Amino acid sequence: MLKGILNYAHYLLEGSIHSGEKVIDATCGNGNDTLFLSKLVGEKGHVYAFDIQDQAIANTRKALINNNCSNVSLIHDSHERILDYFPKDKEVAGAIFNLGYLPRSDKSVITTPDSTVSAVNAILNRLKKDGLVVLVVYHGHEGGKEEKEGLLKYLLQLDQKQFNVLRYGFINQKNDPPFILAVQRKVARIENQ
Ligand SMILES: C[S@@+](CC[C@H](N)C(=O)[O-])C[C@H]1O[C@@H](n2cnc3c(N)ncnc32)[C@H](O)[C@@H]1O
Repeated sequence: MLKGILNYAHYLLEGSIHSGEKVIDATCGNGNDTLFLSKLVGEKGHVYAFDIQDQAIANTRKALINNNCSNVSLIHDSHERILDYFPKDKEVAGAIFNLGYLPRSDKSVITTPDSTVSAVNAILNRLKKDGLVVLVVYHGHEGGKEEKEGLLKYLLQLDQKQFNVLRYGFINQKNDPPFILAVQRKVARIENQ
């Protein structure tokens, strides 16, 4: 069966993240992806979860408490500054960006091309070999098209010797359906990159 967009995003991460690793949820929103990552990495792993909105941080905190998750750092800041919070001597094992706005909330608070590209770039420079950054791209809302184009422009110029870049989506769906972009590092990082 062809997997739906969110299931496929999780399926990709499941295949590349192991128990005990350190991972990132760049847009925690209601906490669904944070909870998923928390279970994947287990007690010995750690999730760094970011959001700029009070409501998102509160919703994710509630979800973490309800599910007894103690392996998550919940960070009320923009994902552009991700590496300020991530251990300097560790590699990122995987990351998810669920882009756009918080469902059932303020639709004017959206992810933007510059900060998204800057965060993806920072994470790719710290990503382990075979690690994946998965982006769920919603582009039907105001500002969504610009973000989609900015991201594609950035990802298209990544060196194919270093990264595989995948696009997955349903091309016969109406109304700007979301799609996935996933970037996998193919070779080991050069230290201090
Ligand atoms: C589609 S929602 C995320 C859904 C979430 N992953 C979940 O499982 O419920 C997008 C989120 O990105 C957040 N956001 C927007 N700009 C951001 C930024 N610069 N840094 C971190 N989060 C941001 C929004 O506040 C919103 O909560």
